[in-house]
This record gives sequence, C-alpha cells and structure tokens, in this order.
Amino acid sequence: MSDEKFFFPSKEVIEKATVKEYDKLYKYSIEHREDFWAEQASQLSWYKKWDRVLDKSNPPFYKWFTGGKTNIILNAIDRHLLSPLRNKLAIIWEGERGEVRTFSYYSLNREVCEFANILKSMGVEKGDVVTIYMPQIPEQLFAMLACAKIGAVHSVVYGGFSSAALADRINDANSRVVVTADGGFRRGKVVELKSVVNKAMELSPTMEICITVKHTGTEVYMENGRDYWFHDLKALPIAGQKCETAEMDANDMLFLLYTSGSTGKPKALVHTHGGYSVYISATHKMVMDIKPEDRYWCAADPGWITGHSYIVYGPLINGATIVMYEGAPNHPYPDRWWRMIQKYGVNILYTSPTAIRGLMRYGDSWTKKHDLSSLRLLGSVGEPINPEAWRWYHHVIGQDKCPIMDTWWQTETGGFMITPLPITPLKPGSATRPFFGNEMAVVDDNGKEAGICEEGNLVIKSPWPGMAAGIYGDPDRFVETYWKKYEKQGWYLTGDAAKKDEDGYYWIIGRTDDVIKVSGYRLGTAEIESAMITHPAIVESAAIAIPHAIKGNAIHIYAILRNDYKPSHELEMELINHVVHQMGPIARPEEVKFVDLLPKTRSGKIMRRLLKARIMGLPEGDLSTLEE
Ligand code: WT7
Repeated sequence: MSDEKFFFPSKEVIEKATVKEYDKLYKYSIEHREDFWAEQASQLSWYKKWDRVLDKSNPPFYKWFTGGKTNIILNAIDRHLLSPLRNKLAIIWEGERGEVRTFSYYSLNREVCEFANILKSMGVEKGDVVTIYMPQIPEQLFAMLACAKIGAVHSVVYGGFSSAALADRINDANSRVVVTADGGFRRGKVVELKSVVNKAMELSPTMEICITVKHTGTEVYMENGRDYWFHDLKALPIAGQKCETAEMDANDMLFLLYTSGSTGKPKALVHTHGGYSVYISATHKMVMDIKPEDRYWCAADPGWITGHSYIVYGPLINGATIVMYEGAPNHPYPDRWWRMIQKYGVNILYTSPTAIRGLMRYGDSWTKKHDLSSLRLLGSVGEPINPEAWRWYHHVIGQDKCPIMDTWWQTETGGFMITPLPITPLKPGSATRPFFGNEMAVVDDNGKEAGICEEGNLVIKSPWPGMAAGIYGDPDRFVETYWKKYEKQGWYLTGDAAKKDEDGYYWIIGRTDDVIKVSGYRLGTAEIESAMITHPAIVESAAIAIPHAIKGNAIHIYAILRNDYKPSHELEMELINHVVHQMGPIARPEEVKFVDLLPKTRSGKIMRRLLKARIMGLPEGDLSTLEE
C-alpha cells in the first residue's frame, strides 16, 4: 500500500472514533454475522427479546429479529425520557426566514403524543398508511414519529412532486389520511403544498381526511368534513399529551418510501420496526461517530431515505442533537449554511455532491466569512463525488482536518452499505469498503468476480438488518427487480456499476439500469417518458442522462412528434413545462430534441445507451441488436 494516495484522518478524529479498528471487526462480523447483529440489537430496548436473529427460510424475504417486540419510538424517544437525555435538545430548527424553534427530547415526546392522538381521533389505526406531504418543518418529523408511535405506516412524499405523482402514491398505498402544510418557503417564495394536495385528493378515491399545518399563512381551500387545521385539532382535548407507544412485531411495517425503478411506476419499499432500527442506529453511531456533545446536521430532505434514516430515526435513537434547516442553501446569500454551522456549532455535516458543487461555484469568499472550526466530520451521499468537489469539501469546508464519509447506499438498503469509518484512510471519490456484516462484490453478468479495477455489477451477497422487507403490494416485482439476475447465487442486484481496486476500495460508477440521478434524486426514464406521452404532440420519446457540472446528471429528451406538429422553441418549452407539471420540478428536462426516429433493438427496446454515446461522442459499443 503506497501512502501518497490516501488521506489519513487527524489524531483528534482517531481519538474520538467509536470504532478504532476495521479489519478484525469486519472479519468477525462476516464469520459471526448473527452474533454481530445480536450484539448491536442488544444495545437497543425491546418489549420482548427476539427468538431468532435471522430467519432465512423464505429468501429473498429475510426476516430479522423474529419474535422480537419493539417500536422504533421506544428507542428514538421513550427510553430517552428516563435518562438525562430528557433535557437534551433533540431538534434545532431554523426556518428560511430566520426563525428558530428548538425541542428537547421531553418536548419532542409531547409534540409526538399530541400528533399521535390527533391521528387516532381521525380513525388512524395500526397498519393504516398515512401520507405525509410537507415542507421541512418540525411538524413533518412529528407526523412521521406519531405514525410510528401508534403503529401506523407513514408514506412521506417529497414536497417537490406534482399532484399527479402524489395521487399515484396515495392510490398505490390506499392511503386514507394525508398530512400537509399550507406551504413552505424556498428562496423567499412560498411553495404551495395544500393546493397540490387538493388536486391529488380529487384523483384519489381512498382519500378522506387532510390535516393541514399552518406555516406560510397562504390562503388555502378547505372542505368541511374533509379538511382540518392542525392547530384547531391541537387545541381540542383529543390532543392529549399522553399516548401509549404501540407494541409492534420486529417485522411490522414502519414506513413505505416510493422510489423510481427501471420500469413502470414508482414502487414503495417497505421498512420495518426491528431490523431497520438496529441497522441505522449502528451505522449512524459508527460512521457519523455521534458523541453526546455533538451537534449533527444532515442537510437532506426528510422526504427521502437519507432523511428518514439519518435525520430522523438514526440520530434520535442515538440521542443526538439534530440541526434542521427549511430552505435553500443560497438564501438570502450563498453563505447560509456556513453561517448556520458557526451559529449552532455544528460538528458533523452530511450532504450531497450536488449541494457541494452548487456551493463550491460561489468561491471561497463566502466560507471565509465564517468560523467552521467546530466541524469534525463530513459526509456525502447520493451519487459519486467527483475528486474536485471532494478536495474542495475537504480543504475549504473541512479545513483539511475532517474526513469525508462517502456513504454508498440506497432506499432499498435502509442504511449505509459501503462507507468509510472516521479512522479509514480515504481516497477522493471512493466510498471505500463495506460496512460490518456486508459481503459485496463486483461481478459480470454470469456472476464471475471482476478483476482488479474491472467494471461490473455491484452485488450484495449476504442479508443485512436494514434491508427492505419488500415492495408494498408487489412481492413479485421485488424478486424480479433485485433477486432474479443472480437467483442461483442468492445475491442482491444493486443496479449500480462499480470497480474494486487493489486495496479493496469500491468506486461507484453509476446506474446500469434506466434510472437517472439528477441532483442525487432518483428518476426513472420510464416515468419521464410516460409523462411526455400524455402531451398530444408526442408519439414517442426517450429520456437519457447527460453529465451536468452541478446536478451530476441532467435529463435530455429525444422526442418524435405527431405529423400535425412542427418542431419549435415554443413547443420545446411547452414540453419541458409539461413534464414539470406531470412529475414535479425535480424532473425538469434540460432540453427536448425533436427527431424522426429513435434507435431501437430488434425486440423494440429504445437504445438509450446509443443515444447517449452519440450525443457525447463516445464509443457506441455493441450495436448487433440494433434494428436496421
Ligand atoms: C442510488 C440510490 C441512499 C441515499 C440517497 C440515494 C447512488 C448513493 C452514493 C455514493 C455513489 C451513490 C447509487 C445508488 N448513490 N450514494 N456515496 N456514491 N453513488 O438513495 O435515491 O435510493 O438512490 O444512489 O446509484 O444506487 P436512492
């Protein structure tokens, strides 16, 4: 091992590190996987201990901690009320306009109990799916935690999705109750949410009740018997300050989270109370190295898995103080984040390459205005971080002393799968090595292990407690999507291409399926193309990802027009807005190009790979399946 290629952690970081050594513990965790996870699980509270650590009788539907009784709230809140953590700050929240709200664990519990009682009064019961469509305000967390507390299943839909996308998710989950807010603030403007929910409710036969939190003061339409203001309900005696936490089976559903796949409509991954709690708290403690005195900021949106696992549940189980910010990183100026780091004394910052690149472009003068010396650890997630952004993050934000935890994982995995520990020597752009208990590999289409630095499919060879229990209502799709390709071997297909180098470090290359990562958000080409075709001008289209300096990838669309339409700039703009209207602003295409034909295989599949190679001037690869 030559040392020049590594960045070594500082003494201060090593001294603080929860885990001081990787190799021995990794070996143990692989050879004694169930013991390792049982030890981790023993650090949490259970109403009743599990009978079996891992039930492998029906793969790939693995069950962890069977027979165990718990509730994620028992660990995230209830047990803290019996310790000095009761008085510790759980949440420091700053709104975009500068207002600050803080909650101790004691007051967090009160808020969650009240919210839980309100949900109960609306008839929400164990197993019911509650949809949450909210801005980044404390009530978003309270709503999630309240669902978990009473055994309801939350389905958080990111506030950047359109009413059509929201309605799809409500209908797929048969959800009866939605929690929203009048609006949120973003770059000084109000983003309306309740009006989007109103449209979605019209498209959703199962939807009966909407609870709206007043945040922006925007005027909204409310219907008698269907709509309730949260503050009205909170003032009623039903919103009592005591609420019992429901005792759940370890394998009972905790939440659904929709994510894009290569085909068809978005699918809801299911995560459960038991294994998920164990996995995310262990990874959060060991990788983010959370200490009692730390202030931890994961600057993601709670609406994505990153937020679920590493804003809400992992940190709260670990009794951390979390910082939350509602708005845009560059509002009112590009130093908003750096200002907040100084103001709150943030020790750990976890964000995405797209955010880092976005802030990097403003130059160093904005960071220099602020004292960032409280930072000890940095994190990155969502897509590969390019070495240039890595170095800026490390040098300018981390002042050369904060290691970067480049965490590779997915909605499906629940928590970090490949990740450094604070003690790990780093290489910019590599997520380094597997977390404890995980056996990973880079393999070819037949399952043969790739050579050193050879590209292949990234697979996970062994079950882990954070793994999704399935796709809601569609077990076949779960098997088909993730487990079919390496059925014989019993491996999980991640959908990512990767390489492993001579030191055993993994380098993620990107998606191999028809999934596009835009600013770290996951979108399916199929969804974008389905949105396009609902426009009367479109016969057929193909969406592809083209590298973009800040977003990582941008969506480019090739479209075939109906005979009676002529290509024009106006039509291009109209189509771009059409996709935004159908899917939400996160799916805004960069451009729509009009073509007469799309390259297809003989079996009729669009060759997006060829389109991309052609526009980027790259080798076009094997064209033997191309139709004449
Ligand atoms: C996909 C999963 C997991 C939270 C956010 C994304 C890409 C994620 C990294 C990383 C390179 C990464 C992969 C993966 N990805 N983290 N550190 N380095 N790529 O969750 O929306 O389910 O997306 O994000 O392509 O498959 P997600």
